Amino acid sequence: MNPMPGATQHQENLNLTLAQRSNLWPLTARGYASWRAGSLRLLGARGYSLEREAALFRALCAPQPGERWLDAGTSAGFYAGVLARAGAEVLAADLSAPMLREAQRREPGPQVEWRQLNLEASGLPGGHFDGVTVGATLNETHDPARLLRELTRLTRPGGQLWLMYVRRTAGPLQHLLARPALGGLTFPDPAWVSRQVPELTLAAGLSVGAVRFERFVKDAS
Ligand SMILES: C[S@@+](CC[C@H](N)C(=O)[O-])C[C@H]1O[C@@H](n2cnc3c(N)ncnc32)[C@H](O)[C@@H]1O
Repeated sequence: MNPMPGATQHQENLNLTLAQRSNLWPLTARGYASWRAGSLRLLGARGYSLEREAALFRALCAPQPGERWLDAGTSAGFYAGVLARAGAEVLAADLSAPMLREAQRREPGPQVEWRQLNLEASGLPGGHFDGVTVGATLNETHDPARLLRELTRLTRPGGQLWLMYVRRTAGPLQHLLARPALGGLTFPDPAWVSRQVPELTLAAGLSVGAVRFERFVKDAS
């Protein structure tokens, strides 16, 4: 892993949400994979194990051997691992060095490159990736609209963007967790997400409880 931000990354003062800061703690990184394994059930997506989520992703996105994929906000490396096992070349990026260390320990294969990056302003070349996976990073990043713009830029024409996020339900718990002092989380509405990515077309969308899965394809021209 390259524990430092990419050399070409735009340097800026990061205004991190509490949720983002909590992911910089080694203890969060150590417990993340266990939380992730049960989190969909807790969010009302009954019957949705990690295996089922991976199967849904593979069925809808069909990542191919040799394709270049970005796993945006990889945490413990769940999507990076799924992609590597499909034969893709993966750049797995995260703000958190402890998360990247944990992910690399769990997914030690040579097909994944681990890099510490702020994906709202990555400095990576445009159109570089055949596909991008975003497992719940939209909920935690400081500015989700900016993240979506940057990930759209990084996707090649005809490439795909896979999103999994906790959608807006307007429940009282979401209201609390959106407060800066209690996490600063964002719970986007699917219509809002679509409006942020005008160069992409929604090819598949599925809500299970509060969890939303979406596959977008970037216009070929
Ligand atoms: C909900 S977790 C992601 C879970 C993971 N994608 C999965 O599917 O298991 C969010 C992760 O995104 C990272 N993150 C948040 N904002 C980010 C940003 N702007 N750039 C890069 N990583 C970010 C956090 O450090 C955290 O590890």
